[in-house]
Amino acid sequence: MTLARRRSLTGIKPTGAPHIGNFLGAIRPALQLAEGHDAFYFIADLHAMTTTPDREKLKQETHEVAATWLALGLDTDKACFYRQSDIPEVTQLAWVLSCATPMGLLSRAHTFKEQTKNQGLAPEEVRHGLFSYPVLMAADILLFDADVVPVGKDQKQHLEICQEAARKVNLIYGEGTLKIPEAQIDERVMTVPGLDGRKMSKSYDNTIPVFMPDKPLKKRVGKIVTDSTDFGLPLKAEGDTVFSLFELFADKNAQAKLTAQYATGRKDPEGPDVEDNYFGWGHAKASLFEQIRDTFSDARAEYDRLLADPAHIDAVLAKGAAKARVVSGEVMDRVRVATGLG
Ligand code: TRP
Repeated sequence: MTLARRRSLTGIKPTGAPHIGNFLGAIRPALQLAEGHDAFYFIADLHAMTTTPDREKLKQETHEVAATWLALGLDTDKACFYRQSDIPEVTQLAWVLSCATPMGLLSRAHTFKEQTKNQGLAPEEVRHGLFSYPVLMAADILLFDADVVPVGKDQKQHLEICQEAARKVNLIYGEGTLKIPEAQIDERVMTVPGLDGRKMSKSYDNTIPVFMPDKPLKKRVGKIVTDSTDFGLPLKAEGDTVFSLFELFADKNAQAKLTAQYATGRKDPEGPDVEDNYFGWGHAKASLFEQIRDTFSDARAEYDRLLADPAHIDAVLAKGAAKARVVSGEVMDRVRVATGLG
């Protein structure tokens, strides 16, 4: 007997090329989870519409995010990788959920509150798509009988709304109509520091993009803020952004080498006390640049190759959607029977 593997599902909003923080915090853990699960990973283009009402941008960013995951190693023979809008059952199930979900539940959502409280919009001005964002997200998840949903902490509330909406449907139409999923919130605060030492984030404009070409990458790394230790003196590794980023990518030997270089302020820690052998911030940054370049050079070449052929990306996503619809069709049929839809 073979045990059915558990299903993991997550949605990725298309927001352009990823940075190192996205890679370490979200992409790499999701790729690892896909190894032991039946993975359903999709590009949340319908969700992106709530904030990106721009046709060309939406298309471009969808291709970019698809190329990103493919280049970084998502195996589409094993995982189902698709575009959300290619699954018509998503919006059908979203309607069923809408009919069972109280407005009160949605008006407590952070995304809605953000717009009304922080941005000063009157509730009347908030678009309905944004208000019902959590319902659409619940449909994404419930449509595939997902067991686990790996998400960042910021999505915790959305997962709770999903569970609550599923319970309401089950209460009305019978237990087992929808399967209640588990959230898998990544509590390890994998905070990756950005150029200025604050958390790496697009909104702080302090990121290092994963697929940046060598020259601008070198320039970016050069912008990392360090302390002003004089050339030739030991460098402090603790709390230093260059060092922290290096550690996230380098193997043990490379880490030990850099640690010794910092501690002595010498390129060759055993070497002579001459200026030629001094190790300063410029050298530390050069080491980090090489480390990032080498870590991603193959993936970057693959990313460029994929993006040059968007028709191929579309074909990969269409294949994924066909596989996904086998499952979404079954679940939607079950829901149609339970609800009395034809
Ligand atoms: N809301 C999620 C985000 O902003 C993206 C998303 C959409 C999602 N549908 C999903 C995540 C379903 C997990 C499951 O990151």
